[in-house]
Amino acid sequence: MLGEKITARAHTNIALVKYWGKENEQLIIPANSSLSLTLDEFYTDTSVIFDESLDSDVVTLNDNAVNDEKITKFMDIIRKNAKINTFARIRSINHVPTSAGLASSASAYAALAAAGSKAAGLNLNERDLSRLARRGSGSATRSIFGGFAAWNKGNDDESSYGYSIQNPVKMDINMIAIILDNQPKKISSRKGMKISIETSPYYESWIKQTTEDFQTIKDAIKENDFTNLGKTAELNAMRMHSLTLSSDPSYLYINSDSLEVINMVKELRENGVECYYTMDAGPNVKIICQSDNINAITDKLSDKFTNDQIKVSGPGEGIKYL
Ligand code: DP6
Repeated sequence: MLGEKITARAHTNIALVKYWGKENEQLIIPANSSLSLTLDEFYTDTSVIFDESLDSDVVTLNDNAVNDEKITKFMDIIRKNAKINTFARIRSINHVPTSAGLASSASAYAALAAAGSKAAGLNLNERDLSRLARRGSGSATRSIFGGFAAWNKGNDDESSYGYSIQNPVKMDINMIAIILDNQPKKISSRKGMKISIETSPYYESWIKQTTEDFQTIKDAIKENDFTNLGKTAELNAMRMHSLTLSSDPSYLYINSDSLEVINMVKELRENGVECYYTMDAGPNVKIICQSDNINAITDKLSDKFTNDQIKVSGPGEGIKYL
């Protein structure tokens, strides 16, 4: 029913097999399938209510007004599907510890897709919700689902959707996020992946390799093989970052602090503490580990970083209405 306020919660996710490049920019059809772990510590709560008295969408994020054309365009997709013209009040709260720098478009668009579509009177199943979330931001496709989730590349709006790989997660797996920078990205993922796909001479090899990595990680999940999952996720992340280095112009998300964390992970591993690193379109590093090793890793990190910079998270749930 139009006029009812709907609130949805979506958790962020970190890709173990990265999405990096679009085949179709307008529909956000990716160049490869990707696979992620949804995290319980970081999430977004979004309320939507359609209101006949408005002459534009009114949006707040953490109670500050935002004016973002991307959000209006996204709401236009919902309006078109629901065959309505009414604008909405949208209130979004990011439950990412302040200064975390992990505020992600994944949880934001997953929560907005769920709350917005339901408030507009649409009753979408999870697959259709993931297709809608995809139109806001690619990584949001996977945040509809809890635990291990994937985004099937597909080749059109219908066939490019998210699905659950395993939820609840059987593997003992955690991520430790190390917050090195909470400033907005200098080169957004949207811009970065466009430069990579258009100019990196290694892009074709990336597609071939990442397709293999997807299968390896999927098998590792099935076989509860943490070592193979961690090793492959780390390699896949560095393969993605090598595309940024080989682009024209070349750019880099890894900074000297990121390198320091990477070296710590290698040293921990040499000393028998099994852990792996992954990075996205920014300098923050996420360490993949099992419960027994969390203390050894955070102890080591605290030599150099403050407690506020170190966030431990386990697997999180899929979309839910509050
Ligand atoms: C490195 O989903 O933020 O985190 O679709 O343009 O909004 P748009 O990009 P976005 O890109 C995420 C890139 C990544 C890898 C991943 O999450 O798969």
